[in-house]
Amino acid sequence: MREHDIQRLADIVIERSGPLQKPVGVVLGTGLGEFAEDVTQATVIGYADLPGFPKPGVEGHSGRLVLGRIGNRDVAVLQGRTHYYERGEIFAMKAPLRALRAIGCETLLLTNAAGSLLEAAGPGSVVLIRDHINMTGVSPLFGEPGSRRFVDMVDAYDPALCERFVAIAERERVTLHQGVYAYFCGPNFETPAEIRAARVLGADVVGMSTAPEVIMARSLGMCVAALSVITNYAAGTDTEALSHEHTMRNAALALRDVRRLLIQFLSEA
Ligand code: HPA
Repeated sequence: MREHDIQRLADIVIERSGPLQKPVGVVLGTGLGEFAEDVTQATVIGYADLPGFPKPGVEGHSGRLVLGRIGNRDVAVLQGRTHYYERGEIFAMKAPLRALRAIGCETLLLTNAAGSLLEAAGPGSVVLIRDHINMTGVSPLFGEPGSRRFVDMVDAYDPALCERFVAIAERERVTLHQGVYAYFCGPNFETPAEIRAARVLGADVVGMSTAPEVIMARSLGMCVAALSVITNYAAGTDTEALSHEHTMRNAALALRDVRRLLIQFLSEA
């Protein structure tokens, strides 16, 4: 998308929502869409009304941009994401993220559903992502012109934002694990051998999203933090069979904790 297409997107959004004061961007992962109900004075725009936005094709992702307020902050909530595995487009979330940046988002909070390699973090747990390993070898910045593509990924998960989440979790008595997210492209779940390999490489959780979004957000200069909701122990580490239905059901177990963390974060932002 060209710069003036992005500006047009931003104009459409602002025309509908009214002016926003440095909104915080939030991306809601599988089964976490309900969080959008916490937005007050909400303006809801379907992705279909936003040129260049993807058409979400995964159950649990509704495809709406919700603008409004949570606590003291203006927010722009992407309720539903598109994944690399849907059409083989690693940059599927580029237009939504560029639109958020264009309406003034400097901070982006991402959520996802993930499998756990941490024994202590079972289904229903929340894990703060501190770093990632891109197991696909594919970057959403392929073909990006200019020097913006050479993004420094040290501290991509902003340490100051992470520390704020840790402090909020302690205060709110929410158990918040921390770890490294291994990004697999999916849509199949991993093999037990892949999980053993990921463990050797330093992974604590595995999932099929988020990492490309973090790379794009960093290239746009946004500060990022990400929370994983654990829906299952990773393949081969438990006897339970994995399925999307199972992911959606178990994401609901952690919804309350994630909601608390996000609302507190936004209330004091
Ligand atoms: N692997 C990859 N993605 C996931 C998983 C998993 O085990 N659980 C939820 N999303």
